[in-house]
Amino acid sequence: MASVQGMTSTPRWFSENDENHSQWYIDRFREMAAQGADLAGEARLIDAMAPRGAHVLDAGCGPGRLGGELHQRGHRVVGVDVDPALIAAAGEDHPGPEWLVQNLAELDLAPREPFDLAVMAGNVICFVAPGTEPEVLAAVARHLTPDGVLVVGFGMGRTLTVDEFDAHVAAAGLRVEQRFATWDLKPWTADADFAVSVLRRA
Ligand SMILES: C[S@@+](CC[C@H](N)C(=O)[O-])C[C@H]1O[C@@H](n2cnc3c(N)ncnc32)[C@H](O)[C@@H]1O
Repeated sequence: MASVQGMTSTPRWFSENDENHSQWYIDRFREMAAQGADLAGEARLIDAMAPRGAHVLDAGCGPGRLGGELHQRGHRVVGVDVDPALIAAAGEDHPGPEWLVQNLAELDLAPREPFDLAVMAGNVICFVAPGTEPEVLAAVARHLTPDGVLVVGFGMGRTLTVDEFDAHVAAAGLRVEQRFATWDLKPWTADADFAVSVLRRA
């Protein structure tokens, strides 16, 4: 497990997983990629939403499958994650984007901002430190252009309901512009098990 010394609060990614979890996660995605699994569903949506050659922030990028795909599609990608092991794997497996170790709650990417679009895929918002959801959303949004968009996907039954998420969105000075149940835009309903939310400044 990576050191979390100095963090004001510890992301669930560290506090709720054991020391082998980062390598397990890296290996799992490497195996899926080797088997030819489709790991680019989120990237296809982000690519469709973004201008060509967009400046994209992959926030909570993990081992880099999404940012790597967006780089392949011609975008200028910065990937940020709090887990140094995952950032190292991203650099090995997906050269091209800039991969950085940072805590999203204290994100400071000067002078790289502004970004046209930021994405938090793979339940990132469920793995931040408890209570830091609004500051994470606000910190990522601060790095966007004035009409930039933040896309957040997370599953139900983890740490957040949609109502709780929406309260964090409002507290971060954002609004939900659109919501879907899947990354291929199936309509969202109250009993959906996943939510993909498109956020903009309120
Ligand atoms: C399930 S993984 C998803 C990784 C990647 N987005 C994907 O979809 O493949 C959740 C990620 O959130 C990251 N994370 C959790 N809290 C974070 C924080 N405060 N700052 C940066 N990254 C964080 C974890 O380190 C982990 O890589």
